[in-house]
Amino acid sequence: MEEQLSQDAKNILGLQLPTDPRWVSLAEMSLEDILTDHAYCEQKAATTCITLVQRYSDYPKVVTELAPIVTEEWGHFRLVLAELHKRGLKLGLQRKDEYVNKLISFQQRGGSREGRFLDALLTMALIEARSCERFKRLSEGLEDEYLRKFYRRFMESEAGHYTLFIELAETYLDKDLVRKRWNEWLVYEAEVIKSLEVRGDRIH
Ligand SMILES: [Fe+2]
Ligand SMILES: [Fe+2]
Repeated sequence: MEEQLSQDAKNILGLQLPTDPRWVSLAEMSLEDILTDHAYCEQKAATTCITLVQRYSDYPKVVTELAPIVTEEWGHFRLVLAELHKRGLKLGLQRKDEYVNKLISFQQRGGSREGRFLDALLTMALIEARSCERFKRLSEGLEDEYLRKFYRRFMESEAGHYTLFIELAETYLDKDLVRKRWNEWLVYEAEVIKSLEVRGDRIH
């Protein structure tokens, strides 16, 4: 099972490390926390897509492809919110997102605009890939059958997003460059996952 997931994660998403298996039981212990984290994850995806449209409107496909993703991600936010309310739970406060902060710190600051554009897209691709992998784990590991299906739907949707961000990068930038930088990101992300899990942080 562990082997299987690890292989899947590598094959489908390129991720170098699987999520800590203890995460599923953690998720079950505090559904309010996990749904709150998840809701903000969707909110950030929507917000980041709006920012990308604003910042890179001279890349027409960024505008046409990401505009509907904003709606979709906000729809996800509303689904998670409805799930919280249905269970008599509340949307908590947004906590500091170490995982995303660490990814952002790896983005290049100076250099060319293209380079920053590439890093912005690859950051989103990674967040989507990692969410997809975690939703897969939840959809397989949770006790509650309804919630397993709930997470299966998110998993499928995030898998589509992950490929979209890579495709957008390849539309406008050299494919070899995209591949090379993506591999650097994968190595870095694995280190981030390792450092957060050692400390026992919750990550979405
Ligand atoms: Fe989403
Ligand atoms: Fe997404």
